[in-house]
Parts: sequence; structure tokens; C-alpha cells
Amino acid sequence: MTRAIVLTHGGVGSDPDLKDGCELAARVGLKLMMEGAGALEAVVAAACALEDDGRFNAGSGSSLRLDGKTIEMDAAVMDSSGRLGAVAAIEGVKNPILVAREVIDTPHVLLCGQGAREFARKRGFKEFSWVSPRAKARYEEIKVAISRGDLPGWKDFDLKGNWNFQVQYSEVFPSDTIGAVAIDPKGNLAVANSTGGASPMLKGRVGDSCLIGCGFYAGPSGAVATTGIGEEIIKRTLAKLVYDRIAGGMPVPEACQDLLTIFPKDIPIGIIAISSRYEYGVAANREMAWAVLEG
Ligand code: GLY
Repeated sequence: MTRAIVLTHGGVGSDPDLKDGCELAARVGLKLMMEGAGALEAVVAAACALEDDGRFNAGSGSSLRLDGKTIEMDAAVMDSSGRLGAVAAIEGVKNPILVAREVIDTPHVLLCGQGAREFARKRGFKEFSWVSPRAKARYEEIKVAISRGDLPGWKDFDLKGNWNFQVQYSEVFPSDTIGAVAIDPKGNLAVANSTGGASPMLKGRVGDSCLIGCGFYAGPSGAVATTGIGEEIIKRTLAKLVYDRIAGGMPVPEACQDLLTIFPKDIPIGIIAISSRYEYGVAANREMAWAVLEG
């Protein structure tokens, strides 16, 4: 009989060959639960492993903003007992998911920008600044996409007129996020998300990954993580829609697949979810690396 499950993803659009990174993250989370930790600790550890991998758009692999220099990250963690912590547009930390975990122990649920960074320092997180080779390569690709007018939603946008970086106007990138959901032997459910953001991004832009009901949701019936273009996910409160279907008794794979269809096909979207019935589902309208482990 299954006692625990960890399900991880590397972001919609991620190469399925990166499955090994998702498996490693799931293994880290499952091991913790087999040793007695709860689902919340498991998803945080799994997300941390994905942030450290460097091949995914989160933590050490985070995308650059439009100036080609700035990294601002979002992260969140929530469990079925209602514990919730998130950070938005945080800079200068290695593992935003660990800072989000610390936010749970404050009177707040979401800290952003400079305040989040200073909170991280108070909690002992060291300054971290690193741009991965992958992020640099993606940045170069985006410059080409922008000059060709290939980016939906950005073709007619006056980017130059809205430029809010200190460096001079320059160019852009694609999207993905990491996520983990888990259920532990006691039936507790949790979700963790982390991202360098979908690109292209202005300074200060916040996506779905750290917004409850949009990029994530957890409750007594299940835990859900989503990935894709944050603006589109936020407008539809995707994670809560998936959760509500699961809570209403819909099989998890069907709930995930069903909610993919509310997006136009040119919007990349991925969903992973797990239910209190120890059932999981994965759906994506693009390639997506993911892994599941059961114990
Ligand atoms: N889904 C990640 C983001 O839009 O920031």
C-alpha cells in the first residue's frame, strides 16, 4: 500500500531528458517522508534540489530579466493545514523556497522585493549572485525572438517606452518554473513552487508561482502546482480550479487535463496534482520533464 508520494516537474517546455533532475528531487523528498518528515518538508527539499540543479528556471538556473542582468525570483509553499509562505521578486538568495518556508513563521504570507531580501538576511541566508550559462543562452535566444516579433503579447507592446531598468533598453526570453507536490503517510498534502519568472519580464514583475490559487494550492483534498505564462494562469486562478475539481471528486488526471483546455494552444501550460486519495495527475500542452516516486 502506498504511504507517500512525491511528484515533481521541471517546468512546461523543459526537456524530458532532464527527468533525472526531477527524479533526484522526488527521491530527496520521499526519503525525508520515509524518515518521518511531513509533506511540507518534503516538497521544500524537493524544490530546493530543483533550484540547485541549474538546468531549470529557478534558483541557480533562474532566467534573466529584460536588461540581461537582473534576477528576481518567486517561490511559495503551502500545505493542507493552511500553512502558507511566499516570496515575490526576491533577489540575492540561492534558494527562495527556503525563504518562503521561513515566511510561514511570521504573521504574513507573502514578502516581496527588498523587504523579502532583507528578511532573508535576518534569517541567515547569505548573499548569492550567479547567472547560469543556460540563462545567458536563453537571453540570447529571446533577443532573436523579439526582433522577429515571435513573442505572443509582446509584438505590439511599447517595450522601450515602458523600460524600467537602470541599464539602457535591450532584449528578452521563454518560460518555465519548478514545482513539487506530496502526500505523506499521515495524509498531509503540500505544494512548493519556485521560478525565475516567465520571460520577457520588466523589473518588479511577479508571476503566478507565488500567488495562492494561481500557481499553487493545497487543502484537505489535494495539492496542485502549475507552470506556464504567469499572467494567463493568474487571470484564470488555475490552481484553485484544479483543486476544486479534485475536491468535487473528479479523478486527478482528468482534472488536470480538463483545465488545460481553458487555455489557447499558444499558451504553454503544465499542471501537476496529487489528491488525498493518493492519486496523482500530470498534464501539459508542451514537453515537460517530471517524475513521481511512491513509498
Ligand atoms: N509561471 C512562472 C511565471 O510566470 O512566473
